[in-house]
Amino acid sequence: MVIVRKKLHLFTLLLLSIVIFACGASEETSNSEKETGKAVASEATTEEEAESTPEETSSAVEEESSQVEVISFEDRILPIIESSCARCHIGAGPGTTHALLETASDVSANAFAVAAVVEAGVMPPWPASDLSVPFEHDWSLSQQDRDAVIEWTRSGGAVDIDPATKITAAEGVNHLVNYDQEIFPIGNYDGDKGQTDEYRCFIYDPQLTERKFLIGYEFIPDQTEVVHHLVGYRVPQDLREAADQKNFSDGQGGWSCFGGTGLGGNQIGTLNQMITLWGPGTGAVEYQNGHGLIMEPGDFFVMQIHYHYDVEAPADNSSFRANWSTDEAISPVELVQYFSPAEIPCSTTEFGPLCDREASLVDRLASYDGEGVQADTILDLCGYAPEDFAHMTDGYASSICDQSARFSGKVVSVLGHQHGIGTTFRMTLNPGTPEERILLDIPKWDFEWQFNYDPIEEITIKPDDVIRLECTWDRSLRPPDAEPRYVLWADGSDDEMCFGVIMSTRT
Ligand code: HEC
Repeated sequence: MVIVRKKLHLFTLLLLSIVIFACGASEETSNSEKETGKAVASEATTEEEAESTPEETSSAVEEESSQVEVISFEDRILPIIESSCARCHIGAGPGTTHALLETASDVSANAFAVAAVVEAGVMPPWPASDLSVPFEHDWSLSQQDRDAVIEWTRSGGAVDIDPATKITAAEGVNHLVNYDQEIFPIGNYDGDKGQTDEYRCFIYDPQLTERKFLIGYEFIPDQTEVVHHLVGYRVPQDLREAADQKNFSDGQGGWSCFGGTGLGGNQIGTLNQMITLWGPGTGAVEYQNGHGLIMEPGDFFVMQIHYHYDVEAPADNSSFRANWSTDEAISPVELVQYFSPAEIPCSTTEFGPLCDREASLVDRLASYDGEGVQADTILDLCGYAPEDFAHMTDGYASSICDQSARFSGKVVSVLGHQHGIGTTFRMTLNPGTPEERILLDIPKWDFEWQFNYDPIEEITIKPDDVIRLECTWDRSLRPPDAEPRYVLWADGSDDEMCFGVIMSTRT
């Protein structure tokens, strides 16, 4: 897979070199330039120009580039790479197998790929938009920075410093230096190459014999080439038996799970709760100012790991490092989930028995042993009936739900959750009032990049505040071979959700 991708890049690189050579210092807008480029590139491949080597074309680019504004790598590009890319693309970073950006010459050699991913907005991965409140460690790029990277590539992607100059990360990934405990899963999983998207839940047991506060933690991926991301849950001890029953039930450590732990229990209340999201580059979480997450004896974690078996890898033994405190003065971090319905009817061009909501609901309940289908509970909670969504038959659906705050305190962190066909997510505090704050806006939902976001400013939630959740979906994002069905709120990968979590503390 990786090799195929690299080859593709070389090909694109060559093609783009020809385009730039042919276009010269065109001052056209990016779109028309792209179009002209395509036409020229296909002509060029039929003529001798196609035979010019990348070396020849790049010297031509240098001559031509004197006519456009020259962007200094050292002054303009290097700081961008160091602040927004290096944390994942140097050393053992998760992006290094796809693009290694360890030296100035690596960046130059990857210039076209870099500009392509920056222009497409897929790198750096930071789904939250600027409509959201400002967040710590925001590594997204401003429009000016994106333009600079694209312009620099167009003018040849040359470096004006020693090509061997090492790229350093402006802000390294924060790791726990010391930790009290390293927890390993009870049972490992060894997937097969070619198997994409395995979501697997594992028991991580901290073996607590007294009440403790989790004050810091870090997920340590073991087989980094296949571990894609993680959703962590705190699970109360009374679900331990259910977890033990599921563990190894298909012969390997853990069990298949998707939207939740699959253990039932009350996911909508305060138990069996999502406590963390981890994606490449996340690093350690340390609660500040004497805060911690309370855990009672027997409580445990269930970590849902998302594997992508693009490559062969040994059994995965990812661990969870924890720092604990027994100090009763610690003030607990509360996690409260806020919801909106996920009701996504078949479009007018889709037909099948499961396009009937009731049939789809019954089918889902049957496949999850009666657990893990929260659709009706959430409709009730938000005061809706299925009919309210029945008109959404153009392949797009949306929902909105206002709830009163169920905990007052200072916001530590927020996260949003949808599944694969989600398109936009928004969680707003006190919508339509002078105090309105968009706690998290994700204009292009990406299941692959889910992060906890930590607001910089102090945001306090008061008892009579309102939290609004809004989500939209696009049915065309379902796998092309998926059976037409009324998609509703449930645990599976073919089901949907819409919720946000606000982690807050009493100040
Ligand atoms: C949070 C970690 C992270 C950050 C920050 C990041 N990347 Fe990536 N990058 C990845 C991962 C992981 C991949 C592998 C593909 C994937 O999983 O989406 C990747 C893939 C790539 C690729 C290869 C794309 C392909 O099709 O194979 C390029 C080029 C790239 N990144 C450039 C950049 C640039 C330029 C920046 C900064 C502007 C950046 N990345 C920031 C993690 C990151």
